[in-house]
Amino acid sequence: MDTARTSVTWRKVCPIAELSPGEATTLDVQPPIAVFNVDGTFYAIDDTCTHETFSLADGYIEGAAVECALHYAKFDLRTGEALSLPATVDVRTYAVKTEDGHVFVDVGSRD
Ligand code: FES
Repeated sequence: MDTARTSVTWRKVCPIAELSPGEATTLDVQPPIAVFNVDGTFYAIDDTCTHETFSLADGYIEGAAVECALHYAKFDLRTGEALSLPATVDVRTYAVKTEDGHVFVDVGSRD
């Protein structure tokens, strides 16, 4: 079965003013999506660490990466690549846009 992207579905995350640089929040979908503000650039990835079940939005932002707060695996926020052990599986990334003062994530790009 074809699992390619089928549609663009923008979901509102929050007002831009509520997600300051260096902060993260989650979009309440299943599975949840973590949204990060890195020096004014927004990134969205799966919120759940691929090592065990833990929220990456609760992790530590280091440049364009996030470090899981449980066992310290790192993921690239731009590509979703697992950068360090103990995680070996990448997380999915999502398109992000800002419009009308809000942050939006394209949940339609989910497999
Ligand atoms: S749960 Fe994230 S590194 Fe273990």
